[in-house]
Amino acid sequence: MLNRIFGRFSLSEDLGIDLGTANTLIASRERGIILNEPSVVAVYKGTNEVILDGMGVGLEAYAMLGKTPKNIEAIRPLKGGVIADFEVTEKLLRYFLRKANEGRSMVRPRVVIAVPSGITTVERRAVINSAERAGARKVYLVDEPMAAGLGVDLPITEAQGSMIVDIGGGTTEVAVLALGGPVVVKSVKVAGDDLDEAILNFVRKNHNLQIGPQTAETMKKTIGSAYALDQEKSMEIAGRDTLNLMPRKAVIHSEEIRDALQDTLRGILRSVLDCLEAAPPEIGADLLDSGIVVVGGGALLPGFDRFITENTGLPCRIDKDPLTAVARGTARFLEDLDLYATFLSEGDDL
Ligand SMILES: Nc1ncnc2c1ncn2[C@@H]1O[C@H](COP(=O)(O)OP(=O)(O)OP(=O)(O)O)[C@@H](O)[C@H]1O
Ligand SMILES: [Mg+2]
Repeated sequence: MLNRIFGRFSLSEDLGIDLGTANTLIASRERGIILNEPSVVAVYKGTNEVILDGMGVGLEAYAMLGKTPKNIEAIRPLKGGVIADFEVTEKLLRYFLRKANEGRSMVRPRVVIAVPSGITTVERRAVINSAERAGARKVYLVDEPMAAGLGVDLPITEAQGSMIVDIGGGTTEVAVLALGGPVVVKSVKVAGDDLDEAILNFVRKNHNLQIGPQTAETMKKTIGSAYALDQEKSMEIAGRDTLNLMPRKAVIHSEEIRDALQDTLRGILRSVLDCLEAAPPEIGADLLDSGIVVVGGGALLPGFDRFITENTGLPCRIDKDPLTAVARGTARFLEDLDLYATFLSEGDDL
């Protein structure tokens, strides 16, 4: 009740945050997605001091990854969906919150932050502390699968069963939602970064070419797939010959990359199958109709829906804007913090 009164008269805009390993997004009820930048910070090497007085955060810092001058280091402060570097995460959040609030009231916002469902109490506290120190007035945490579910309009407060798969940079979260909560959740540290690594290893072994993670990611986005393409593709890449260490080019085909991604994709599929096996039979029956919804950047891999349908027998839908689903969901919790109270946890609850 107090929340409601305070919320109505509050001068600041409440914000929803998807603090991801690869990307951080901020959304509000009024403005939708306000900010969408890589979770990268450029610091002076050996320090936690952000370069150029805060300019080295997000997009600008991402552009420096892999090619920073000697005294500068571009850091991803989150690993596997959790905070690996507390101080740098706080700086990242401070900069992003300030940017999202630019030209608006000085009142500190209330924020809803999505976190991986598997994280520990200590890790939850770290997220809350970081956000508070970065300028939030009040912090609520919500499990990512619930945020993703609400973001893509699944009936999360109803008995009806549904399934959501979120393939991010560091983690894949799979959840069966029903009866107003997650019935089964699996979180595995197999996701987009591992797909990049599989490509990097494949190119080194099969083409004797050393490439960086950025090139591997570009290849995944350009010619990667999870299922045979109607029109197979190829692309030219540049790297360093592993034998004579000279720069060299090579042409790589989409079929090769699909093969290279198989093991990692099977790892993701395994967690979907585990989740289905663990779901109560009545809910499994619901899923025959409602199927599986896929979100997160990994959902953009062409043919992922067919890969899932072929291996589970269930209908599968890729969300129309999979990279923003979790952030959209966090903003929807802000519509009614009381109604959704059971899904939210605060510092006092931990
Ligand atoms: N077109 C694309 N095809 C394949 N993968 C893509 C595409 N676009 C982005 N990705 C991948 O999606 C991943 C990032 O997704 P997302 O932003 O959902 O992750 P995140 O939320 O930051 O990570 P996490 O949820 O693990 O903390 C990266 O691995 C990126 O390479
Ligand atoms: Mg994510």
